[in-house]
Amino acid sequence: MMNVSKLPEYAAKLLIVGDSAVGKTSMLIRYTEDRFSSTHLSTVGIDFKVKRISFDDSVLQMQIWDTAGQERFKNLTTAYFKGSHGIILVYSCNNRDSFTHITNWIKQANSNTPQNTCKILVANKCDLDENDRFVTTEEGKKLAAEQNIPFFETSAKWDVNIKEAFGHIATMIKDQLISKSDEAERPISIQGKLQKKDLSQIEAQNKCC
Ligand code: GTP
Repeated sequence: MMNVSKLPEYAAKLLIVGDSAVGKTSMLIRYTEDRFSSTHLSTVGIDFKVKRISFDDSVLQMQIWDTAGQERFKNLTTAYFKGSHGIILVYSCNNRDSFTHITNWIKQANSNTPQNTCKILVANKCDLDENDRFVTTEEGKKLAAEQNIPFFETSAKWDVNIKEAFGHIATMIKDQLISKSDEAERPISIQGKLQKKDLSQIEAQNKCC
C-alpha cells in the first residue's frame, strides 16, 4: 500500500508595502514568475498572487498582496493591513525618501495589525552602483535592528536575495501559525489557569464515583 504523508496545511496573507516605484511588483513577479520588466506600470489599487510553499513539517499557502505605493491609494492599502500575517516593508537604495518613509509604513502596520505580526525590511535595487545609491547598507541594518526585524538587500532585476527574503518571512509566518495551533490544541489546564467553571466540572466528576 502507498504511504501518503499528509502534512498540515496553513493559509496566510502577506502584504508588500512601501513607496511608489521601489520595486514591490517587480519583487513579487520575480518570486512568483521568475521574470523582470524594466518598465514601471504603477499598481492601481491592489493585486495578489498565490504561492504554495512546502516545508518539512507543513505546507503554507501564501496569498501575497502587492499594494500601490502612490499616496492616492493610501486608504485602500491601510484597509489591507487587517488580517495579514506578514508584512514586507520595501524601500529602494536609490531613493532616500522611500527609506525615511519606512517609519511611517511601520506606524501604519503597527496601528492596523497586532504587534507580533511578522515583518522584514527590504532594501531593493541593490544592483545599482555606488554613485546611484543614496542609502547605505549600514543605515538599513541599523533601522531593522531598531525595529528588531530581519533585513535583506535585494535586486528583483538580478534576482539577488528575492527567494531568501520571501522564504524567510514565510518561515516566520509558518512557525507562528504552528505555535498558535499547538496552543489551541493544548489541554485547557496547561493553556492557562483553570476557570471556576472547569473546577466545578472536575468536582462534579469526582463526586460521581
Ligand atoms: P508602485 O506600483 O507604483 O507602488 O511601484 P512598485 O513599488 O510596484 O515598483 P515597480 O515594481 O513597478 O518598479 C518600479 C521601477 O523600478 C520599474 O522601472 C522597475 O523595472 C524598476 N526596478 C524594480 N526592481 C528593480 C531592481 O531590483 N533593480 C533595478 N535597477 N530596477 C528595479
